[in-house]
Amino acid sequence: MTKRKLAVIVLAAGQGTRMKSDLPKVLHCLAEKPMLSHVLDGVETLSPDRIVVVVGPDALAVEKVAAPHKTVVQVDRLGTGHAVKQAFDALDGFCGSDDQADIMVIFGDTPLIRPETYQAMRAQRCEENGPKLIGLAFRPEEAGRYGRVKQDSDGRVMGIIEHADATDEERAIDLCNAGILLGEGPTVHRLINQLDNNNAQGEYYLPVIFDFAYAEGLDTRAVEASEEEVMGVNSRQELAVAEGVLQQRLRAKAMAQGVTLMDPDTTWLSTDTEFGRDIIIEPSVFIGPKVSIADNCHIKAFSHIEGAEIGAEAAIGPYARLRPGTVIGKGGKVGNFVETKNAVLGEGAKANHLSYIGDAEVGAKANIGAGTITCNYDGFNKWKTSIGAGAFIGSNTALVAPVDIGAGAIVGAGSTITKSVADDAMAVVRGRLIDKAGAGASFRASRKKIKEEKKG
Ligand code: UD1
Ligand code: CA
Repeated sequence: MTKRKLAVIVLAAGQGTRMKSDLPKVLHCLAEKPMLSHVLDGVETLSPDRIVVVVGPDALAVEKVAAPHKTVVQVDRLGTGHAVKQAFDALDGFCGSDDQADIMVIFGDTPLIRPETYQAMRAQRCEENGPKLIGLAFRPEEAGRYGRVKQDSDGRVMGIIEHADATDEERAIDLCNAGILLGEGPTVHRLINQLDNNNAQGEYYLPVIFDFAYAEGLDTRAVEASEEEVMGVNSRQELAVAEGVLQQRLRAKAMAQGVTLMDPDTTWLSTDTEFGRDIIIEPSVFIGPKVSIADNCHIKAFSHIEGAEIGAEAAIGPYARLRPGTVIGKGGKVGNFVETKNAVLGEGAKANHLSYIGDAEVGAKANIGAGTITCNYDGFNKWKTSIGAGAFIGSNTALVAPVDIGAGAIVGAGSTITKSVADDAMAVVRGRLIDKAGAGASFRASRKKIKEEKKG
């Protein structure tokens, strides 16, 4: 196998009209990540020497997601062949005469193609005397409006005919074009420059370069993938279907790593979720971006977790909400209706019920009672609360930040703490309790009497 240079062109200039959205189509998310990033991550596994993304006009947001890769603008959307042409100026060294340079064209709206499939195309291309041009093809249940791939008896691709231009006989072909191709750079460049737009849609069709290459006697082949993998996302329905496929892949990967998903269909994962092993996840759990969960954790039902690092043996939920910046130490516990944000809980620290812990540091083995609130925001700034190791915060305590509770300190239930408390001290802030003997009974008797007088 020879080592060849590789440039990848990603076509992402489409308007995505059917999404009915102000957001460019390729920025719609799957598993909390823009479609375009899925496509880029997939193809980056080939370690290409260059990636150029073709975007539509006024697509600053797309350019940001494409960064650090170069983007070029296709002003008029004249077809896939025309879109590829826009990238040539950015591909010096791939279009000239270097026959060791390859060009691959992929679509920004086909986010489910697996690295293995890109690799299969590349491996075939890099074989000794490998084909000059390789397309990705599939056999869908319904061939519909896809371009049809015509092969000769040797399996070479003779050409690709768009549905709109195809005869009934050609429409009966079940092998369809997925749109993606890989070929020798100078050849791809030369053939694309020969394209015209004399066809049913008046567009410059990229796949027609297969017809040109075959006519020149070049070796042209197709690699096949599953329909599920090459599906394009053009509508919200298709976005949901793609999300389903992706979630299934992520769940399968998690289970293969040693995570029990009690109800896989209701476990929501992100592409970057990191798991240790022997983790149990109960039904209906949402895991957003940037979450890692270490060995032997138990994530209970209805928890919502994002941007959190959860240490080994921790128990989270049911109904816990861990927001970005949360770090839970080994054996930590966060129970029902507890919200954490920018909060570092030490080993074995517990907040089991009904609390808000924001912008806080909680020492090892500290115990935060039910209803404790860190009052971190004064309407202008966020302030920090620090709770020392082994401290005990009684129920229904308001900790008005900035405030420090010392290690081993005890705060009495119902306190509003506005000043720092020293290590091992006890702080209680309460109104004085008044207990008048018999006052309840005499109050009741007087009210009863008034009521009866009114009736009479
Ligand atoms: C294309 C193929 C068809 C194939 C199908 C697979 C052509 C002519 N046809 O058809 O054989 O079966 O994909 O899904 O290539 N784009 C641009 N600029 C343009 C036109 C398109 O950037 O001027 C981008 C789109 O954003 C999209 C991709 O190219 O990411 C494909 O374009 P689309 O119009 O969806 O092609 P199809 O008609 O589906
Ligand atoms: Ca399409």
